[in-house]
Amino acid sequence: MTRIAIVEGDGIGHEVIPVAQQALELLHPEYEYFPVEVGYGRWEQTGCPCADGDISELKTADAVLFGAVTTPPMKDYQSIVLRIRKALDLFANLRPVRGDGFDLMIVRENTEGLYSGIEEIGPDRATTLRVVTRKGTERIARAAIRCARQRQGKLTIGHKANVLKSDVFFRDICIEEAKKAGVTYNDKFIDALSLDILQHPGAYDVIVTTNIFGDILSDVSSYLVGGLGLVPSANIGDRYALFEPVHGSAPDIAGKNSANPVAALRSAAMLLAYLGDNEGSARLEAAITTVLSSGIRTRDIGGSAGTREFGDAIIRVLGKKG
Ligand code: NAD
Ligand code: IPM
Ligand code: MN
Repeated sequence: MTRIAIVEGDGIGHEVIPVAQQALELLHPEYEYFPVEVGYGRWEQTGCPCADGDISELKTADAVLFGAVTTPPMKDYQSIVLRIRKALDLFANLRPVRGDGFDLMIVRENTEGLYSGIEEIGPDRATTLRVVTRKGTERIARAAIRCARQRQGKLTIGHKANVLKSDVFFRDICIEEAKKAGVTYNDKFIDALSLDILQHPGAYDVIVTTNIFGDILSDVSSYLVGGLGLVPSANIGDRYALFEPVHGSAPDIAGKNSANPVAALRSAAMLLAYLGDNEGSARLEAAITTVLSSGIRTRDIGGSAGTREFGDAIIRVLGKKG
């Protein structure tokens, strides 16, 4: 039996994930869906945002659908989503951004770099160690190359090798892997790349980059498609996989039935493709396109529909075709 862990998390996670879960349940009533409660809300209630037992439970699932968690910028609070990505060794974060005349896939290294967790705050100085390993770089480069081969076959390496030695290392290993694999590649400084992606998105296919650059580049690129409400992601490792919108818990709009559930729905579509149901994944993507083209849209992209109303429209379309 296929088992899907459902983590709503915090904020709008409680609104967009039920919409995505409902779509999955319609397409796959035979799957088992089980909730796992982690996040800041849980910390406020119990003093523990995520227990070791929760991680073990997530590991029993065939795939995880994740909303977003609030990470307060406090000295002693560790981000739960980062803990889960590391615990499940979800090293490849795939963030597709598709629109008219462009189809980008940001492949973000997801376990090291500036997110190594090796840091300290002293009275007069704070440090965070940016760790880039050969193993970590080879595996993300290979994942990006595999991805490029299934697409237009073009790889762009985003880095800041003009300043950071750790990025000279990253860039050179990516180039080595691209040469070995025989894929077309180029490389660009991440700052220039961030602008060029907005000006010439059609020039890119797969972009591989380090952890924090991939984080920033994906929010920047979401501008091309109408913002964060639309961009999904897959976090993939050798054994586990977790699917989540690129956006966060959006406390500014939480509880107002106004969050756009498309990023969560698209994350569910990526989950289905990962599980081998390409047809269900395509049906869900098609339903999103149909509903958006019919003019039913949430406020962030110029409409007036609520999260639930958008979800109802998706379910109606999926139900008709089913
Ligand atoms: P955010 O992505 O939550 O929101 C940024 C802006 O985009 C906000 O104005 C928000 O209203 C809007 N937005 C985001 N998703 C939307 C949607 N689906 N529909 C309509 N509008 C949407 O980023 P933030 O405000 O910087 O962070 C809020 C919290 O979320 C922080 O605690 C942050 O650490 C956390 N966060 C968590 C994750 C995750 O768990 N994967 C990802 C990013 C941020
Ligand atoms: C994301 C988020 C996370 C990240 C934060 C909340 C830890 O911004 O998934 O894009 O930086 O990876
Ligand atoms: Mn981010």
